[in-house]
Amino acid sequence: MDENMREVISDLKSYLQYLKGMGITSLPVSENISEKVIRPEILTLADVRKELGDCKRCKLHQTRRTIVFGEGNERATLMFIGEGPGYDEDVQGRPFVGKAGQLLTKIIESINLPREDVYIANIIKCRPPQNRNPEPDEIESCNPFLMKQIRVIQPKIICALGAFAAQTLLKTDTKITALRGKFFELEGIKVIPTYHPAFLLRNPERKREVWEDMKKIAEWLNNAQRKGHSA
Ligand code: URA
Repeated sequence: MDENMREVISDLKSYLQYLKGMGITSLPVSENISEKVIRPEILTLADVRKELGDCKRCKLHQTRRTIVFGEGNERATLMFIGEGPGYDEDVQGRPFVGKAGQLLTKIIESINLPREDVYIANIIKCRPPQNRNPEPDEIESCNPFLMKQIRVIQPKIICALGAFAAQTLLKTDTKITALRGKFFELEGIKVIPTYHPAFLLRNPERKREVWEDMKKIAEWLNNAQRKGHSA
């Protein structure tokens, strides 16, 4: 703990002792105290976007048209993370807006959630040339921003779309067929991998497994909500 923090805690302790001496033994938690004050390391998505700026941290900035930051509900309980922007996303600056994106929207709606209620992001925010796989230095440059988005949103569950997203988030090289439909954790947040919608467009017979994974997500969220309400 650094000296400043020690001083803040000591001041706070003295102040609480002073209040106690005045007969005040409990404090109302004001809704005006923003999360920023309580946890200064947690920002807003707008802060994260601002920090990202006109990012030139990796070579993808040379070929991208637009930074695809992510979109959706800042308070989403469910977050989807894909691989990286493709052509349509690069043009529009929004994640999952091409053919695979349209299928993702249907997948989300299959559990009675409008797309606007979830948050959608990618492992990397700039389109790789010819949609090649993202390279390790590109992932490394982008990862701190994705992690900040996750920490701001604090979803209850993350659905990793496809092998690339699942393996990157879970730091594993286990095959997606073995990962999908299982629950993992990242910084205390549940992670469930499933197949990427682009893979489903090429292999429609695998859609059933994704519907099953989505049902698991819905069930898990319902249980979490029930527990939250009864707490
Ligand atoms: N594929 C992805 O992984 N992400 C997108 O945003 C679009 C297609």
